[in-house]
Amino acid sequence: MKNRKWMAALLFGLLLTVQLAGGQTLAGADTIPPAMPVVDAVSDTALFITGKAESKAKVYAFSGNKKLGEAEARNGRFSIDILKQKIGTSIKVYAVDAAKNKGKSKTVKVLATPSAVKFAATGNVNMRSGASVSTRILTVLPKGTIVSYINKTGTWYKVKAGKHTGFVSSAYLKKFSSGKPVSFPAPSKKTPGTYVNGVLLVNKDYGIPSSYNPGVSARAQKGADALVAAAKRQGISLTPFSAFRSYSRQAALYTNYASQYGEMEADKFSARPGHSEHQTGLAFDFGGSDQSHWLKESFGKTKEGKWLAANAHKYGFVLRYPKGKEGVTGYQYEPWHYRYLGSELAAKVKASGKTLEEFLRVKAK
Ligand code: DAL
Ligand code: ZN
Repeated sequence: MKNRKWMAALLFGLLLTVQLAGGQTLAGADTIPPAMPVVDAVSDTALFITGKAESKAKVYAFSGNKKLGEAEARNGRFSIDILKQKIGTSIKVYAVDAAKNKGKSKTVKVLATPSAVKFAATGNVNMRSGASVSTRILTVLPKGTIVSYINKTGTWYKVKAGKHTGFVSSAYLKKFSSGKPVSFPAPSKKTPGTYVNGVLLVNKDYGIPSSYNPGVSARAQKGADALVAAAKRQGISLTPFSAFRSYSRQAALYTNYASQYGEMEADKFSARPGHSEHQTGLAFDFGGSDQSHWLKESFGKTKEGKWLAANAHKYGFVLRYPKGKEGVTGYQYEPWHYRYLGSELAAKVKASGKTLEEFLRVKAK
């Protein structure tokens, strides 16, 4: 955008000259349309269209005449909430700047989500347009090509290989695993409670039974240990000071806070029993070596708090109650409270800049 700024400066200079000489007022209208947005791949399970666009421009997404959504680009990026779209749907994305200049549109096609199930071609094999040898050959996949499974028709598998999607006879495919396990996998789904898109959601609206008493999740603990170790290597000393809390422990805490501050105030920072993420074994409260910032907003401004905010997702954790989202989460900013989701989802939630409720599109009851 350097070019544009320079041209805007030049335009401003010219207008200024005209103004001085003619003594009349001219509106310095911006006539340069924003650049065509860059759109990240959109899959059939995506709930967002993300990409790059000029900061402050409004970015619109359309499927035919139907508006799928809009969003303002911030720091050169945009994220538009959309409903799931079918494979093959064309989506038109364009930007409009503050002066209402409309840029060129970018059209993207919704792709099949490559599944985690992969196969390798056992020989050079034809990829066809349909599930039979009488259909057209789209391409020949060389021996060893790794393909992502989509679905099957009899013995024919619909697969994706690079930019090609088509049918391959399963006789030429064998199961493939990269051998690289996910280091911080999603938590197990045995926890009772409400799941949204496969994610356990515990908040003021959605609770868990008092009888559920699992202790700390082994996966979350592994993530927390790795997080603390990584921080230490970078000279940051973090301590998890609270993790699993039973229903009765949470009840005692809440009662204590409520008698001290009143229920209204206590509800801003303490969950009622049966509604704390700590009872799931998936929540960790972290603090720095300097205990003076524990459970205080000021922790967010310490080097430990900042490191956590920037890196926790790599170990599967997300900040659960961000600043400015009190109306969504129901809790005040808690720079210490992190929820384990597994590193894959945690990275997505972090990149979205949303709270877990917003990411899962759950409205308060
Ligand atoms: N401090 C959080 C909200 C809890 O009590 O679970
Ligand atoms: Zn907490």
